[in-house]
Amino acid sequence: MKRKWWHDKVAYQIYPKSFLDTNGDGIGDLRGIISKLDYLKELGVDIIWLSPIYKSPFVDQGYDIADYYAIAEEFGTMEEFDELLAEAKKRNMYIIMDLVINHCSDKHEWFRKALADPDGEYADYFYFRKGKNGNPPSNYRSYFGGSCWEPVPGTDKYYFHMFAKEQPDLNWENPKLRQELYNMVNWWLEKGLAGFRIDAIINIKKNLEFPDFEPDGTDGMAGCWKMVESVDGVGEFLEDLKKNTFQKHDAFTVAEVFNMKEGELPQFIGEDGHFSTIFDFSAHSLSDGEHGWYDAPQVDFKKWRETVLNSQLEVQKSGFEANIIENHDEPRGASRFLPEYARTPAGTKMLGTVSILLRGIPFIYQGQEIGMQNAVWNSIEEYDDISTKDQYHIAREAGLSDEEALEVCGRMSRDNARTPVQWSDKENAGFTTGTPWLKVNSNYKEINVESQEKDADSVLNYYRKLVALRKSAEYREVFTYGEFAPAYENTETIMAYYRVDENKRMLVAANFGKEVAEVKLEYPVKRVVLSNQESAAKEKMQKPEQTLKLVSCEVIVLECE
Ligand code: GLC
Ligand code: CA
Repeated sequence: MKRKWWHDKVAYQIYPKSFLDTNGDGIGDLRGIISKLDYLKELGVDIIWLSPIYKSPFVDQGYDIADYYAIAEEFGTMEEFDELLAEAKKRNMYIIMDLVINHCSDKHEWFRKALADPDGEYADYFYFRKGKNGNPPSNYRSYFGGSCWEPVPGTDKYYFHMFAKEQPDLNWENPKLRQELYNMVNWWLEKGLAGFRIDAIINIKKNLEFPDFEPDGTDGMAGCWKMVESVDGVGEFLEDLKKNTFQKHDAFTVAEVFNMKEGELPQFIGEDGHFSTIFDFSAHSLSDGEHGWYDAPQVDFKKWRETVLNSQLEVQKSGFEANIIENHDEPRGASRFLPEYARTPAGTKMLGTVSILLRGIPFIYQGQEIGMQNAVWNSIEEYDDISTKDQYHIAREAGLSDEEALEVCGRMSRDNARTPVQWSDKENAGFTTGTPWLKVNSNYKEINVESQEKDADSVLNYYRKLVALRKSAEYREVFTYGEFAPAYENTETIMAYYRVDENKRMLVAANFGKEVAEVKLEYPVKRVVLSNQESAAKEKMQKPEQTLKLVSCEVIVLECE
């Protein structure tokens, strides 16, 4: 396998609006990010992914872009962005931005021009279609609820949108549109960006017939993802995009890809794949509800373990995936993947360890390094997220009470990840001196950066050690390129695996159970390299035994013979 510059890097996702506000308007900003570069460097971060900072009406929090060449005023200026690039470079860090090119905002100039002249050139930048017998062209339900088709005022046509109606889908069949996008991507890369996180990219290929699908809900509609799953040919668009942009710059690209077809992984992340890597969402998909969040199953430990292990085995045949516990679209991982008794500093460290030492590129989401958790939400009005509002509505329609629907949203809402970063125990968790745009999690006095800085045993200081271990001169090679092999899969509560290369054999083992668990060691132990139970580690180091005993929520990383 050809080695790439990004293989051994650790990445961190910033959701700018909630990161750090420096001018008191309640909204995080570029100045805030610049001021925390040293904090991120100390954590061991190499690559920083910024969720969208482009000019936007923020209907979907910046994933609706009105100008691809402008920084949103809320976040700062282009000068400040250039300063961020330069400051990151000084620290040997890389910046990647979000690339949202399946759709733009309805406030984008292209769409304004298209509406102004529905038969003109710009209408062909979008999908404008005539309805069928007084109905929209097809029965697709958009991801955020309601039809995918919205009337074009003053015409008998509709325009297509898979997300909100303020996010019209771009027509990738149009070579002119594609060229405009490539120019834009190259413009940013030439500025010094290291690459992109690529949004909803599988959605760019449409079935131009827009056939109806069997309804799957009481609204008579079918989820639009069914069209995505049934159409072929997205690979040609993706190759064209890559050849005209990323490839020329040796850029790092990490794509958001759902609904991939069986056997297609090598085409996406193989040696000459469309992207450097894609996110592994397999564990997150375990809590996909059949009809929405209201029938989303709770994550079961054994299913989760099996899913992660199998995904690792499959992926290593083709390339690398990007491993996450959470992101801006998911609830907090500590609240989702840990049983209630494990939502403690020890449990959080355990989850972090088994995730970060997997084979692949680790992406830490802001606040994960201090163990931020889901917030407590008291009413639907407290939420901002468009998708949460839709899911609340779906739950109510399905017969759930207000209280039950709120419970569901509390568990699944994207806003759980979007509450401001908890920097200190001061007012508003030190995020802003003004009024935060989204409420601060009420647990900020217990969980915050400042207090964890002072505590040698904190989640934050543990994450620093964990990342440092992964990148250390001695173990970097095995944790980057070492083969992945599951261990102790037949135990009730242990999640464990080996990372092995010619020189080293590492065992990562964690006990997710409530009780002590014991297994027989398969290889003699050379060293304990990391543990979340310092005293236990010392003991084990003194007399490595044949059995490995792990208390509840204990994780240990061993170098074996
Ligand atoms: C992706 C983003 C999500 C956004 C959607 C539409 O899934 O991660 O936040 O709402 O695309 O752009
Ligand atoms: Ca601000």
